[in-house]
Amino acid sequence: MARRIPILEVKDLVTHYGEVEILHGVSFRVHHGGILAVIGGSGCGKSTLMKHAIGLLKPTSGSIKFWGESLAEMSEDELSALQERFGVSFQSGGLFNSMTLYDNIALPLRERRDLDEEIISAIVRTKLSLVGLGDALYKNPSELSGGMKKRAGFARALALDPEIVFFDEPSAGLDPITAAGLDDLILSLRRTLGVAVVVITHELESIKKVADRVLMLDRGDVIFMGPLDDALVSDEPRVKQFFARRPDETITVR
Ligand SMILES: Nc1ncnc2c1ncn2[C@@H]1O[C@H](COP(=O)(O)OP(=O)(O)OP(=O)(O)O)[C@@H](O)[C@H]1O
Ligand SMILES: [Mg+2]
Repeated sequence: MARRIPILEVKDLVTHYGEVEILHGVSFRVHHGGILAVIGGSGCGKSTLMKHAIGLLKPTSGSIKFWGESLAEMSEDELSALQERFGVSFQSGGLFNSMTLYDNIALPLRERRDLDEEIISAIVRTKLSLVGLGDALYKNPSELSGGMKKRAGFARALALDPEIVFFDEPSAGLDPITAAGLDDLILSLRRTLGVAVVVITHELESIKKVADRVLMLDRGDVIFMGPLDDALVSDEPRVKQFFARRPDETITVR
């Protein structure tokens, strides 16, 4: 049964930047329609995990499989074909400043699909409307607010109708209403298209609303991996602390 093969399976992932080991053996799976929230303190390795999972960086050891196929064993062509099946929105947005929003979203379509400009235009408009930027088509990224850039990155991640999307802190810096809108968008992607989502987020409300599983990292180690409902009642002190939003006792303000 093809359905039972995870879309993404990461096993014992160890990564370094130079001499420094960042992830010490991370494992998790994402299934069709699954929404995994990756949580943990600043600097614990969440963005590092995402960059390795999508093949942007090479791990020291461990395996990453998409639809059962190992990333490490893929040819350039296979990797390129795979990249069409996932969408990514980076923490920093990653839009090209020299192009309008329209061209930024159209870029993957022009590079990867053989489509008439009329169709491209319709797709770009649809994706930008999804994130509430339907009237900012011809703005340059430099003319956008931080939150608008985030949403534009989201639209670009969806340009090729991916089967799995990776969002690195999609709602950081957004007002609560826009952030809630993005949560609804994630849920509707899953509901209508069965898209799987890996979302890195600190937003408790958002985690509770969208996630069905939670992966919590602490300084490069997995300290929780399982259903959201179990995370909410976990006895592990650091998981408890996160969900209770308690400050770290080692940080004291005098
Ligand atoms: N390109 C890099 N070169 C060297 N070290 C890096 C690099 N990128 C990140 N690091 C280090 O790796 C560790 C993990 O960083 P990472 O960006 O994955 O954290 P994060 O969990 O995403 O944090 P945040 O919540 O602040 O975004 C940090 O100690 C960071 O300083
Ligand atoms: Mg990060």
